[in-house]
Formats: sequence, C-alpha cells, structure tokens
Amino acid sequence: MNNLFTLQGKIALITGSSRGLGFTIAKGLGLAGAIVILNGRNENALKEAKQKLINLNIKCYCSTFDVISANEIDKQITLIEKEIGQIDILVNNAGVQARAPLENFEETVWNNIINTHLTGAFLVSKRVAKSMISNNYGKIINICSLMSEIGRASIAPYTAAKGGLKNLTKAMAVEWAKYNIQINGIGPGYFLTEMTKNLMEDQDFDIWLKKRTPAGRWGDPEELVGAAIFLASKASSFVNGQIIYVDGGILASI
Ligand SMILES: NC(=O)c1ccc[n+]([C@@H]2O[C@H](COP(=O)([O-])OP(=O)(O)OC[C@H]3O[C@@H](n4cnc5c(N)ncnc54)[C@H](OP(=O)(O)O)[C@@H]3O)[C@@H](O)[C@H]2O)c1
Repeated sequence: MNNLFTLQGKIALITGSSRGLGFTIAKGLGLAGAIVILNGRNENALKEAKQKLINLNIKCYCSTFDVISANEIDKQITLIEKEIGQIDILVNNAGVQARAPLENFEETVWNNIINTHLTGAFLVSKRVAKSMISNNYGKIINICSLMSEIGRASIAPYTAAKGGLKNLTKAMAVEWAKYNIQINGIGPGYFLTEMTKNLMEDQDFDIWLKKRTPAGRWGDPEELVGAAIFLASKASSFVNGQIIYVDGGILASI
C-alpha cells in the first residue's frame, strides 16, 4: 500500500516555492521521499527555504528563474538535468495577484498576471515535458484555484488565468497522456499566505469566508499535501486532466 504513494528518489521541481503553498507542497513531496528543487526569482529567499528543508533531512536544491522567461527556463532546466537528473514531477505553482475594478485594470498588470500563471505554466511544462516524453514518464500538477470555476470582483486577470490553466491542464493531458505523463490540477480554496494576508486581515472578508465555506474555516496549507502526493505518485497512474478542489466544500455550495 505504501509503495503506491512513495516518491522515493523522484525529482520534483516546484515553481514559486520560496514560500506559501509552493513551499508547503515542496516540503510534503520531500517528506514523501522526493528530491526537491525549489524555484522563485529571489535567490536569498530560496536559500532560506532550502535550509528549512535540509533541517528536515530533505534532499533539496534551488533553481532561480522567472517562469515567464523561456530563455531562463531552458538554461536552468538544462542545468538541473545535467547536475541533478531528469525531472519526474513538475508543480506549476508560481503566482501573483493584483486587485482593481476590471474597467481600470492596467494592461501591464493584466499581462503580468496572465503570463505568470498561464504562459509560465505552458513554458515550464513545454521544456520539462520534452525530457518526460523521451523518458516515457512524468507527473505535472497545475495549481489552479476556485477562480478556475467561478469569478470574484476585482481579480479578473487572475480569474481568466486560472480558468485558462484549468483548460491547459486538459489540453496537456489530451496530448501527453500517451507518453505516460499524468497532468492534473489542484484547486485550493482560501489558505493563509502572503497572497491572501490582506484578505485575512480584512475582518468583513474573514467573517464572510467562514460563513461561505461549509467547513467554516480557512484551509491550512498542509491540507494540500495529500492531494499533491496522490497526483505525484503511482497512485494516480490513470488519472489525467482532472482538477481536485481542496476548498472545504465552497464549490459544492451556493
Ligand atoms: N493562497 C491561497 O489561498 C491560494 C488559493 C488558490 C490558489 N492559490 C495559488 O497558489 C499558488 C501559490 O500562491 P501563494 O498563496 O503561496 O502565494 P505567495 O505566498 O505569494 O507565493 C508565490 C510564490 O511564487 C513565486 N513567484 C511569483 N512570480 C514568479 C515568477 N514570475 N517566477 C517564479 N516564481 C515566481 C514567489 O517568489 P518570488 O516573488 O521570489 O519570485 C513565491 O515563491 C499561486 O498560483 C496561487 O494563485 C493560492
């Protein structure tokens, strides 16, 4: 039974894992046996995150690159493949957020959000999938959102990007399942991170969310780890193009 979920010796790259959900998912995959590669744009933040994982006896590396730069991605993945090995598990998690009324959204801000969540997932997956295809093995997990399904005022580009990422997950599955690559998504509800700090500090939002969520509370990032291990392991070898929502029941209720 344990063998179904073990990630022993597998190499996992998690984008945007210097903090927040990406870091917790990286830690969870590492504790399940994976060799973990942390990513982000800030080298110092990555070094600090790496030390935390090393303290837990997780084998861990850092790879600093911007997921919207195809050149940086190619350079860094080539280096990873040469010095660490071929990537077995890719988690597309890097993300940014900005809020404004749709009619006032700056085009540059719109582009950055779409590029980070959607084009970034395409660019990193495209590069990593080349090796997964020749290896005839791979796992890709796209971190989606409730906004892959529904909208919310003031975050239109994020909603557009996460809706796109959900369907990119299906597009990837349709094209790459034949290479024994499973591509699925995780759709988190509301979890406290730097991205959602201002929401938690907003008392009205906090009260509204707890009422709106059947479970009656925010999620703990550790509660995403089970879904991540499932989608990264042999246990999900015939699961493809699906999104698992880890949301305390929000999408199940009106
Ligand atoms: N928190 C939630 O409740 C929630 C709910 C649903 C979905 N999500 C999704 O979960 C993912 C993680 O969110 P979070 O809440 O953990 O956010 P967070 O704490 O702000 O972390 C975002 C991470 O992404 C990295 N990053 C941002 N832009 C990047 C880029 N262009 N290239 C590489 N790395 C980049 C950041 O590091 P640097 O800035 O140093 O690069 C950081 O490590 C996002 O995709 C988000 O949309 C979060």
